Amino acid sequence: MKKRIAILPGDGIGPEVCESATKVLNEIGRLYNHEFEFVYGDLGGVAIDKTGNPLPEETLTICRQSDAVLLGAVGGPKWDTLPGSQRPEQGLLGLRKQLELFANLRPVTIYDALAEASPLKSEVVEGVDLLIVRELTGGIYFGEPRERRGEGKQETAVDTLVYSREEIERIVRKGFEFAKERRGHLTSVDKANVLESSRLWREIVEEVAKDYPEVTYTHMLVDNAAMQLIRNPRQFDVMVTENMFGDILSDEASMITGSLGMLPSASMSQNGPGLFEPIHGSAPDIAGKGIANPLATLSSLTMMLTFAFQMPEEATALQNAINDVLAKGHRTADITNDQTTAISTNEMTEKVIEAL
Ligand code: NAI
Ligand code: MG
Repeated sequence: MKKRIAILPGDGIGPEVCESATKVLNEIGRLYNHEFEFVYGDLGGVAIDKTGNPLPEETLTICRQSDAVLLGAVGGPKWDTLPGSQRPEQGLLGLRKQLELFANLRPVTIYDALAEASPLKSEVVEGVDLLIVRELTGGIYFGEPRERRGEGKQETAVDTLVYSREEIERIVRKGFEFAKERRGHLTSVDKANVLESSRLWREIVEEVAKDYPEVTYTHMLVDNAAMQLIRNPRQFDVMVTENMFGDILSDEASMITGSLGMLPSASMSQNGPGLFEPIHGSAPDIAGKGIANPLATLSSLTMMLTFAFQMPEEATALQNAINDVLAKGHRTADITNDQTTAISTNEMTEKVIEAL
């Protein structure tokens, strides 16, 4: 198959981990007879430096003309003094909005070889394998009105949590679809004891559930979900939730593993290209040193192969290669206590290619 991939390396370690990804994709192409074409675009700080705009029109065009988008990371101290609306993060927010990426997927898996990295007890985290499906383009982060009113002691501020039936239904359906492909259990997270939008959410879950008789589901209040993620994370298969709850829960869930450099994410739209990226940032403290852990980005590639290209065999091969390399004890600096044996970004990439 022939696939065109927009690569947006961004800032800091972004270009380093993206280079690792293109090398691995080339190897997968060679092994499985696919042609992966890479088209590069600027996003974030690097785009601000070149054009003054964190999301140049040309970058959007490149993304729209591709089958998938791979993003490194954006941001860094160099741009921290810019006003909010001109910062690198605006490039990423704008891209999500423009590509209508309404479903954000954050898998949380424990690599047995890294279970000791978790801040939780290993008997709690062993075997954790969950997927958070977060609504990404609606809810309180976008609702209107959002404003300040009055002044002095009477000053108030308002944000609006609004969801349409259509917005809820499409994300809930995604949740059921993933649960069906995985272990068949969906936890829908809401705050239906307080919020009207959550009561509509719950109604829609009940309706959509009728189309997925093979999936068992439960409703869980968000405060309880926050607790259960720490108490017994193994109980979860797929969690589906609205934007703000998902923002908070997915950061909480990522810490179950204790390995920021390992975790991938994907953001999907209804028909357009999906965006695949590591969850970590641009890591300015280690940028340019060639020591960044590329595995979160390579793991994002497994999601691209699965969800964007329908190449499950290739995705499994890559996942197995990552597992293999870790089982053999190869570690970048961020996932080992013994810095004398830590390997570089390039070395880790070569190990994965060998394992493939
Ligand atoms: P960060 O994720 O960049 O770094 C946190 C810590 O983890 C640092 O010590 C870093 O060296 C380490 N780390 C992260 N990824 C690593 C990897 N692959 N290998 C080895 N070590 C790794 O988060 P931080 O420091 O809060 O933010 C730095 C910049 O990144 C900021 O400008 C922030 O706005 C931006 N950022 C961008 C994101 C994105 O593009 N999606 C997400 C989060 C932050
Ligand atoms: Mg967040």
